[in-house]
Amino acid sequence: MHYPFWDQPIGYGVLMATIAVFHVFVSHFAIGGGLYLVVNEHLARRSGDAQRLGFLEKLSKFFALVTLVAGAVTGVGIWFVIGLLAPSATEALIHNYVWGWAIEWTFFVVEIAAAMLYFYGWKRMTARAHLTLGWIYFVAAWLSLVIINGILTFMLTPGRWLVTGNFWDGFFNLTYWPSLVLRTGVCVMLAGLYSLLVASRLEPGDFKAKTVRLAAIWSIAGLVVTMLSQLWYWKAIPAAVTAKALQSMPTPIWFIGISFWLAGAIALGMVVLVAFAPRKLGTSVALVFMALGLAWFGAFEWSRESLRKPYIITGYIYGNGAEVTETENYKRDGYLAQISFRTGDDGADLFRHACRNCHTLAGYKALKPAFDGTDRAFISAIVQGTQHIKGNMPPFLGTAAEAEKLAGYLRERIDPRPLADIYKLEGMALGRKVYDLRCGKCHVLGTASDKSKSLAGQSTEDLNGLLDMAANLGEGMPAFTAEASERKVLVAYLQTLGKGGRP
Ligand code: HEC
Ligand code: HEC
Repeated sequence: MHYPFWDQPIGYGVLMATIAVFHVFVSHFAIGGGLYLVVNEHLARRSGDAQRLGFLEKLSKFFALVTLVAGAVTGVGIWFVIGLLAPSATEALIHNYVWGWAIEWTFFVVEIAAAMLYFYGWKRMTARAHLTLGWIYFVAAWLSLVIINGILTFMLTPGRWLVTGNFWDGFFNLTYWPSLVLRTGVCVMLAGLYSLLVASRLEPGDFKAKTVRLAAIWSIAGLVVTMLSQLWYWKAIPAAVTAKALQSMPTPIWFIGISFWLAGAIALGMVVLVAFAPRKLGTSVALVFMALGLAWFGAFEWSRESLRKPYIITGYIYGNGAEVTETENYKRDGYLAQISFRTGDDGADLFRHACRNCHTLAGYKALKPAFDGTDRAFISAIVQGTQHIKGNMPPFLGTAAEAEKLAGYLRERIDPRPLADIYKLEGMALGRKVYDLRCGKCHVLGTASDKSKSLAGQSTEDLNGLLDMAANLGEGMPAFTAEASERKVLVAYLQTLGKGGRP
């Protein structure tokens, strides 16, 4: 809370994902490319295969120039964006890993210099010097992964670091090794997929068949390593994190499963390709493989990021920048007291520093539709109960009075009309809407939080009694404050639940 808030009408999750996914693709390409080039150059030189050397030279242009330039630009871009979006988490990463970053950047500079010389040296250097440069390029690139992997995995599973604050405890954390193997596999897979794409544009013939086969073997080997280490990785995450995710975030978990089978499908597709049609591989098929590979990797990265919710650094900093260790101070002195740069509008400041990192009012993950047609007391209860809502949110650490202020701020920005007028609904459809807004945020039907079984078979009177004492049903459960007409249709709707399926 010691930094000003960068308030722009964009969804920060989307902004971060766009630049990070691009950077991650490009940097893994660069590393895998280094290995692919130098290993194949060895083979080609040993057999005196000039055609292959020409092919590799062409490949190296992409790997050395495009990936390094784009990797460097997006890498700086990531620092720029996280500095704006999550300054306190960025500060924590810099403080704890300042030497880690210094080492990483040293490797990166070596990688760039070697890769550029490698590209320019195909015809200007002796074979030996050129190969040596190639190895320097690859090893430096991979070592930069060895370093950054420690910092990336630390954010999800800081482990003993939370207690000791020791550099190495954080660095060699629970997911360090599986993640390193997994990412190395990804590098190999992407290098294979890219060379497959370039090979698909060669004239049909023996050379093409050989090149396609080789590229496919790389992709398959990368995929197999990746699939095995993904299982290992999942096992290495503490059970409490995975259990919470399974319960409150079914979508990313579903994606993890899908991504696993997607990797298998790509590998199988490759085997078929190599066995039956390496000569005729067309560019469109190679593009499909590439798209699937990137989709798999993207799904994995996204699920991994989701697993970390509600934290940026697990157990240390929440997604909105609130420090876990400061919890008692927040509760005692209030949230506002911890915000160094205040604008004079307390409601707006609370919104920015508690919710705005993940939500907008009316755009990405909009809160307006979640609150349209509800009242201030309800909004205040939701603010104070965020940890109960689907999505794995941080708790609101401010005082009850601050929750009221934030609720007032939100209430002024939503549509205050009754739901029937806003959505032009009546009867059961309206009842369902009331449920979705006032109950469904916490009791998602068909999940562990679903209460429809315990509501089934209750009379109108019972249900009205239950709504009267809603605030007493459990810690975090809001009082029922909707108007009489909405209560009536909700009760009717609740009576249809628990009888199998939604009406
Ligand atoms: C770390 C990120 C994060 C923070 C901070 C956060 N939320 Fe959320 N919130 C989420 C996610 C993720 C969801 C689930 C969205 C979904 O299912 O599409 C969610 C869902 C919600 C929902 C339910 C939306 C719906 O569709 O019914 C409400 C209401 C909500 N948040 C309010 C808040 C409020 C109020 C704050 C601030 C006090 C806040 N959130 C802070 C991430 C966050
Ligand atoms: C902000 C989150 C939240 C909202 C919104 C919410 N609840 Fe709850 N509810 C809880 C929590 C937390 C509990 C207590 C823990 C539990 O039983 O899961 C609870 C408990 C209950 C229980 C008691 C269940 C039992 O088996 O004892 C019922 C019934 C219930 N809620 C129904 C509703 C209905 C109906 C609505 C909408 C009018 C609603 N809840 C809205 C969070 C919420």
